[in-house]
Amino acid sequence: MARSECEEFHVPVLLHEAVDFLVWNPGGRYVDATIGGGGHTAEILRRLDPSGVVLGIDCDPEAISWVRRRFGGERTPLRLVRANYAELARISRDLGLVPLDGVLWDLGVSSWQLNRPERGFSFDREGPLDLRMNPDLEPTASALVNTVSEEELRRILWEYGEEREARRIARAILERRARRPIATTRELADVVRATVRGPHVAKSLARVFQALRIAVNRELESLRSALEQALEVLRPGGRMVVIAYHSLEDRIVKSFFRENEPRCICPPGVPICTCGRPGRLRVLTRHAVRPGAEEIRRNPRARSARLRAAEKLVEDEPASL
Ligand SMILES: C[S@@+](CC[C@H](N)C(=O)[O-])C[C@H]1O[C@@H](n2cnc3c(N)ncnc32)[C@H](O)[C@@H]1O
Repeated sequence: MARSECEEFHVPVLLHEAVDFLVWNPGGRYVDATIGGGGHTAEILRRLDPSGVVLGIDCDPEAISWVRRRFGGERTPLRLVRANYAELARISRDLGLVPLDGVLWDLGVSSWQLNRPERGFSFDREGPLDLRMNPDLEPTASALVNTVSEEELRRILWEYGEEREARRIARAILERRARRPIATTRELADVVRATVRGPHVAKSLARVFQALRIAVNRELESLRSALEQALEVLRPGGRMVVIAYHSLEDRIVKSFFRENEPRCICPPGVPICTCGRPGRLRVLTRHAVRPGAEEIRRNPRARSARLRAAEKLVEDEPASL
């Protein structure tokens, strides 16, 4: 497949930074938990020697068929599974890949998903109000907004969208759906536009669609569970690399890393920790890595990306100070 054709699906974000953190053992076993168009996977494969393996996971059947076509003609050590990455530990064990050397998550939606009106991810493209990454999942965003209570809708918009006008928008949605169910992206966008007037409307639209996407795909629950599972199936020295696109995801990653870092209370100057709080992870990115101006110019969707990486510590090994 030509490069331009691959970029039509998705342009990988923080490509070299992510793979630099991830691949430390060229003969290792890696998981791309959000394979999408295979941009990161192509670079991981390039850095592996013939004994290395990549397992690519995606819950979207269109992504899996795309990467099958992209890499199908090549002799690559790539295994593909259509699933939720919240099944990471089971899948890796079933395939005999444990212990793993690294897991990568490039969260959120691909450009392919965003640009297809029939998937309903974009508020400025008319289409069914769907927003599911996995088309077998229930409910769709339309079913959700037409059935949940006003209180629950307000909570979703507030917690997952951090939308200040959550209460007014939830009320307006209930009034609108009492007349006729909300079926399309435009119908929902019109309700938001009529409620939040003025210069903030574009941001509110983005936040409302983000909130519904998170709720429909249960994104935060999957991420929390997958991070915990990755720690179980990584080998000591194995890496976790996460690229997040909004503060809710990034906060989960940051606090997971923090909770699992050594919390050593040994007196200063002691060469080896003996306090018995060695932790399970060493954080490799003290601050999130952000894309540079040049990457953002080439690919504006990289704008909000934040990458964090950590390494699994040797079990029960006290952390060196
Ligand atoms: C930003 S794209 C990944 C792009 C990819 N890194 C590339 O370079 O082409 C995110 C992908 O993750 C998938 N995804 C999101 N949540 C998922 C989940 N819980 N389980 C499996 N796949 C998921 C989406 O379907 C989408 O294809």
